[in-house]
Amino acid sequence: MIFKTTLASTAMAASLLMSGSALAQTIGFSQVGSEGDWRPAFSQNMRETAEDYGVDLKFANAQGKQEEQLRAVRAFIAQGVDAIVVAPVVVTGWESVLQEAKDAEIPVFLVDRDVEVSDKSLYVTRISADFNLEGKLAGAWLAAESVGTCKIVELQGTTGSAPAIERKGGFEAVIDQFPAMEIVATQSGDFTTEGGKKVMEAFIKSTNNLEGICASFAHNDNMQLGAIQAMKEAGLKPGEDVLMVSVDYVPAIEDALEAGDANASVELRSAVGKFIYPVILDYLEEPKELDKWIVIPSDLHTQ
Ligand code: AHR
Repeated sequence: MIFKTTLASTAMAASLLMSGSALAQTIGFSQVGSEGDWRPAFSQNMRETAEDYGVDLKFANAQGKQEEQLRAVRAFIAQGVDAIVVAPVVVTGWESVLQEAKDAEIPVFLVDRDVEVSDKSLYVTRISADFNLEGKLAGAWLAAESVGTCKIVELQGTTGSAPAIERKGGFEAVIDQFPAMEIVATQSGDFTTEGGKKVMEAFIKSTNNLEGICASFAHNDNMQLGAIQAMKEAGLKPGEDVLMVSVDYVPAIEDALEAGDANASVELRSAVGKFIYPVILDYLEEPKELDKWIVIPSDLHTQ
């Protein structure tokens, strides 16, 4: 199901708030961390829109560690919150804690990232962009731009995370259709600017200054921004010598696109509280079976 903002639930939340008759719902949100520029923007939006919907948001920052997330979810269960929202750091290791939430009759909603569980009834739904599609959009743009001939270096996101797995999968599904397109080097930069810079420095060394490399595909903009720095320090011209395509479309990559240092970025919307809270509040009002995935659209931006 592709998400359409439900005007009914938005209006309902607004009118309940104005009449003062709404009992605030308490929602515990376990966030991945604060890496890069996209994630803090997402956290801020979740906080601000919680106020708009009259939600009492309990926010826990896991600093990129799954153990912290498991601790936070267990704390939310002990507090007896009305619902739990998780943006999971990695896809594995969720069965037990989700079962504990289910046993406590607290509905769990996944946002942003996915989990791999054999029993999908452990969560109500996932509300997120389609990371595989983002990879496909990046791959299709690059195939068109390079006319199907391109040696690529890839900067991967956090190992074991849904966006790293799915963006890579989508990108490869497209480039595999072009015999002269191939990923010649790939490494994780953990979704950070520093990580991206280090990885690109290593690629520059291992490929004799990116000789014969036509493109850099980064699973997020921050790693690409780090890669841009590394390339400039090595006397290369990102955006000209090498095509630069990434994901998120944060303000700093918009500047890089305008300056000609980057060529394309697939937008991952960060202002998504307006999509997430209505789904949760409607569900708490009247629990029902939902589609297991509510998709937020993605768009490609170029220079
Ligand atoms: O899960 C989404 C990814 O996580 C974003 O693309 C990245 O910037 C973040 O860290």
